[in-house]
Order: sequence, then C-alpha cells, then structure tokens
Amino acid sequence: MSTSQTLKSVINARHSVRQYDGETVIKPAELQKMLKTAFLAPSALNLQPIRALVISSPVLRQKLTAATGNTSQLTTASAVVLFVNDRENLNEARPFAPANGTKPAPATTTAALDCGLVAMQFMLVAKDHGYDTNPMTGFDHAAFSEILNLDTDRYDPQLLVSIGVAAQPASPAKHKNIKALVDFR
Ligand SMILES: Cc1cc2nc3c(=O)[nH]c(=O)nc-3n(C[C@H](O)[C@H](O)[C@H](O)COP(=O)(O)O)c2cc1C
Repeated sequence: MSTSQTLKSVINARHSVRQYDGETVIKPAELQKMLKTAFLAPSALNLQPIRALVISSPVLRQKLTAATGNTSQLTTASAVVLFVNDRENLNEARPFAPANGTKPAPATTTAALDCGLVAMQFMLVAKDHGYDTNPMTGFDHAAFSEILNLDTDRYDPQLLVSIGVAAQPASPAKHKNIKALVDFR
C-alpha cells in the first residue's frame, strides 16, 4: 500500500524556476527548518560533509552575479543556498570558519553525491513549503569562494540552489520515456 500520494504530488509539482517575484522574504528560521529536514539525507559512511551557506543579502547576491550566467535567479530569488563539501568536516564545529589546521580530506566524487541528496531533499521540502527552486552548477567556484570569503583549502563549492516564489508558473521539463531509462534482469 502506498502512503506517498503527498510526496508524489510535491515531486510532480517541482520545476526549476529562474525568475522569481523579487519580493518574497523567507525568514531565516523557515530556511533553517527546511534545511534541517534536507540534512536528514543519507551520506556515505554517515560522514555528513555537506554544509549550506544561505545568502539572502541582495548586495552580496548582486556581487555574485558577476561570477555566474544565472543572473535572474541570483537577483530575483529570496535567497540562494550554496552547498559545499567541508573537507575538514569536524563534528560540531562552527561552519564556514577558516581551516582549523588539520589536514583536509581530498575532494571526492562521493561528496558530490552526498550534496545531490541533501539538495534534492531541500528542493522538495521547499516545494512543500510553497517555494520554487533551481539547482545550478553554472557558477565560477573560485570567484564565489573569493566573494564569500571561503577558505578554499577547506570548502569545495558543489551546488547553488535558488529559492523563492516563481514570478509565473514554471513549465514541466520533458522527460524520457521510462522504457528508455529502466531495464529489469
Ligand atoms: C546538477 C545540475 C546542474 C544544473 N545547473 C543549472 C544551471 O547552472 N542553470 C540553470 O538554469 N539550470 C541548471 N540546472 C537545472 C536543469 O536545467 C533542470 O533541472 C532540468 O532542465 C530539468 O528541469 P526541472 O528542474 O524543471 O525538472 C541544473 C540541474 C542540475 C541537476
């Protein structure tokens, strides 16, 4: 028996939005709540290396537009969230502090997988809260790190996700036929 009707409707309703209303303010407490649920995502060996930097400041977002082609998301969303891999990954340490001097772990593809899982949960939780999102890899990692003052020995930017209220409803993307995607043995 399926109990996932609501989950399914949220998944069906999520579409990438690149133009937001430019006025909705999402309170930090609500963003924190959504991220708390998103961070329940699984991670390899349960290492939980992903951190999220919420960027609401319009001034900062305007500065960041110089380092991405995704300008409308940066300027019209309520916030953008930069998901990074914390290569130091100390327990309970304050996030986005300079490196602690310990040898950071090498960057891994596993971190990208961990990040994708957190970000996907975040986008679905956001939709459930009535917000739209857009995941983005199209940004200059080095320039973002510099503008945001991130220690590049420690933090690898992975994915940027805009969040806000769509200026107009997004159209669903075309999807391949399931027969072209799945096989059974
Ligand atoms: C890893 C990843 C990177 C993406 N990068 C960008 C990006 O830089 N700019 C953008 O406008 N959309 C970006 N997208 C959004 C995709 O274009 C979008 O998810 C796809 O067209 C399907 O549409 P949907 O999200 O509405 O289902 C990215 C999506 C993923 C998963």
